[in-house]
Amino acid sequence: MKGIVLAGGAGTRLHPATLAVNKQLLPVYDKPMIYYPLSVLLLAGIREILLISSPESMESYRRLLGTGEAYGIELSYAEQPRPEGIAQAFVIGRDFIGGDCAALVLGDNIFFSANLREQLRAIVERRRGATIFAYHVDQPERYGVVEIGSADEVVDIVEKPKSPRSNWAVTGLYFYDNQVLDIAAGLRPSARGELEITDVNKAYLARGQLTVERLGRGAAWLDTGTHDSLLEAGEFVRTLQRRQGLAIACLEEIAFQNGFIDLAALEARGRMFEKTAYGAYLLRLARGGGDS
Ligand code: TTP
Repeated sequence: MKGIVLAGGAGTRLHPATLAVNKQLLPVYDKPMIYYPLSVLLLAGIREILLISSPESMESYRRLLGTGEAYGIELSYAEQPRPEGIAQAFVIGRDFIGGDCAALVLGDNIFFSANLREQLRAIVERRRGATIFAYHVDQPERYGVVEIGSADEVVDIVEKPKSPRSNWAVTGLYFYDNQVLDIAAGLRPSARGELEITDVNKAYLARGQLTVERLGRGAAWLDTGTHDSLLEAGEFVRTLQRRQGLAIACLEEIAFQNGFIDLAALEARGRMFEKTAYGAYLLRLARGGGDS
């Protein structure tokens, strides 16, 4: 299974903060936004990851994340010249994916759920068809909405419906088998000029191969697209981390738990950031044998 983080976009709702900086480089409390979606792929146990972003942001991402060695992963990079749709990730990432399955996560999506690791691992094992994640929201008309039948099957997906048939929003995390490459290659741009991920999901639905996983009551799927939602996401992370003394989206911690890096590497990263709570957390982990 390969992983893609799509971190391009225009970030127009965050102007002027994103005029000179890619949205996913902005901090969400104590770490760059990109750490959060990246942590989801790591939790799923994925080691080969492609980061797609705008040409002008490439250098910053390389500086931030390098080859991925610090997290025991293989990170490669590709440019999306213009934000021409989420499904374009599978046109740009075609060679990277090769004959494999692929997970896609949007660079501005933050997930928090107690059993996320187990849920993700089960999906990675599935290896057939497509899996999307749904989250119960108060204002579904702002999102892609999935209608779920009595046997938990997907009945329909509608993009930003005026009269939503359910409160289940489609989140920015998707798992596909290799068919996604040909489905994406055959897409035509929508009325708004984008290759739509909803069209990919509908193609799987038409084949009877689309599965939906619900993120339950205790889970959080946070928005970061506006100034207020970005601040609220930061406050959420801060509150949980300070109360529990456990980090959200600490890449080194997840990498260590996965066996991707060893204790010495964990400690070295802690020393790198020793002036921060993030660094102190890593050092505490390393000195406690990696037990959080
Ligand atoms: P959007 O929220 O659709 O767009 P945006 O991030 O550019 O923000 P704004 O609406 O304020 O202009 O994007 C959702 C996520 O998907 C975000 O992480 C950026 C990413 N994305 C791309 O990388 N390329 C694309 O072509 C699109 C459509 C989105």
